[in-house]
Amino acid sequence: MTVVTQGSELRTVLAGHGRPRVLVPTMGALHAGHLALVRRARELAGSAGTVVVSIFVNPIQFDRAADLAAYPRTLEADLAACREAGVAVVFAPEAGAMYGADRSVTVTESLLSRGLCGAARPGHFDGVCTVVLKLFLLSGCEAAVFGEKDFQQLAVIRRMVRDLDVPVAIIGHPTVREPDGLALSSRNVRLSAAQRADAPRLRQALLAARETFKSGVRTAAEVLASARQHLEESALPRIDYLTLVDAESLQAVTQIEGPAVLATAVFYGEVRLIDQVRLEP
Ligand code: PAF
Repeated sequence: MTVVTQGSELRTVLAGHGRPRVLVPTMGALHAGHLALVRRARELAGSAGTVVVSIFVNPIQFDRAADLAAYPRTLEADLAACREAGVAVVFAPEAGAMYGADRSVTVTESLLSRGLCGAARPGHFDGVCTVVLKLFLLSGCEAAVFGEKDFQQLAVIRRMVRDLDVPVAIIGHPTVREPDGLALSSRNVRLSAAQRADAPRLRQALLAARETFKSGVRTAAEVLASARQHLEESALPRIDYLTLVDAESLQAVTQIEGPAVLATAVFYGEVRLIDQVRLEP
């Protein structure tokens, strides 16, 4: 496995590897969820192809400096995990290698990124789109694998690729969960023992709301109330948002008439966790 830190070097190193090239963009602190993405990439690449993992804590997608500073960084362990998982090339640049001090171009998706995490984290999806497009260009990948846990991110990236004719196939991979239902996230390690014990509540609240939906309720307010009630049974999580959106447009719905997504973000102290469930009438 080769580890490179400069974009120009990445192009040179990859020229000597087979196609297809499948990219797994990450911010490191790799866990079983990321490794599932890498396995998927390995399958897609086949025996002739190449799996590239990027490890870059992208500063321009963080809206809070404290969150950026606290983001876990475990490069040595990440590299060992990549080596073990059959990754050919890891791209792990410093921020200075990705962004010039006078950079002045940003990629903005202006519809799907407005609500949910976009409303709560101004500029977040501009940062994501900008870095992902750069990673696509630097790696020259044919396909890239993203987790479905970040479903809004996945939708925004699909839209960017569609609207800008980016020749990269976007592959979504199902959320990997702990046995108690908590979605794997690099942020989970920052939870206290009490917060960690409470955090499966997120998933339970969404599943409770899905049961309400399955019982025939189609009014968003009622479905949301059932999730909210479950979340509010504990004093630990602070709800950032709890919203029901159309699965395609990501715009809020009042009545569930087509595929919808019930999505939430909560804070446990400083740690922000997200999760969502799809509702299919
Ligand atoms: O999902 C993430 O880890 C990041 O948002 C991504 C896609 C690697 C861009 O920095």
